[in-house]
Amino acid sequence: MAGAPTIVSVCGSLGAGSANRDALDVAAGRLRTTGVVHDVPHVAIAAVPMFDPAAVDDPPPAVAELRAVLEAADGVLIAAPEYAGGLAGGIKNALDWLVGSGSLYHRPVAVLSAGTTGGGFAIEQLVRTLSWQGALTVATLGIAAPATKMDGGRFTDPSTLAGIEAWADRLATAISLPAPALLARVREVVSPFGIDAVRFGLADQ
Ligand SMILES: Cc1cc2nc3c(=O)[nH]c(=O)nc-3n(C[C@H](O)[C@H](O)[C@H](O)COP(=O)(O)O)c2cc1C
Repeated sequence: MAGAPTIVSVCGSLGAGSANRDALDVAAGRLRTTGVVHDVPHVAIAAVPMFDPAAVDDPPPAVAELRAVLEAADGVLIAAPEYAGGLAGGIKNALDWLVGSGSLYHRPVAVLSAGTTGGGFAIEQLVRTLSWQGALTVATLGIAAPATKMDGGRFTDPSTLAGIEAWADRLATAISLPAPALLARVREVVSPFGIDAVRFGLADQ
């Protein structure tokens, strides 16, 4: 698999039997079996402390490590729950640490939220906070009522599995797109959220 891209995953849930974590595992399995990558390392964010603006240029070790892993990646899969009508705080906090370092700047990212109502608010907030730091959201996916689509802590519902696989495929495809086509893809994803793709500073078609 010479020349394979580096794709990593980040999960915003620590829950036992997390639906978001299993969705990432399904996506990783897809990228492995289709030969895109050998593996999709999971980047833990549980040790990332509360954002401290004074520490942006001399961050704690967990942040320095997170930044390094993401900066070495060609693409990132993010899955996070919706809590109390918004994006799970742990992932928002981790992403806030990446603004000053530009670690996700111009990096293709696919975002997903599995949760009771389908994670619409979490997805919207993820797309916005990623876009505000110049990350390129190339795919979104909401999974409603995940428990009804899982068995033994694993997604088993065929159409949900197909949706997760298609979501992973969209990231894999985006990684090798030339800038104009990549921008077109991002515009398609972010425009429904009222985000102007001009902010990404990529060449237009
Ligand atoms: C504190 C808390 C708040 C929640 N708030 C919402 C919510 O606002 N909208 C929603 O759709 N689901 C909500 N849920 C349900 C979660 O989205 C659901 O349990 C999801 O499966 C959690 O992700 P995980 O399985 O990856 O841990 C909430 C769950 C918890 C524990």
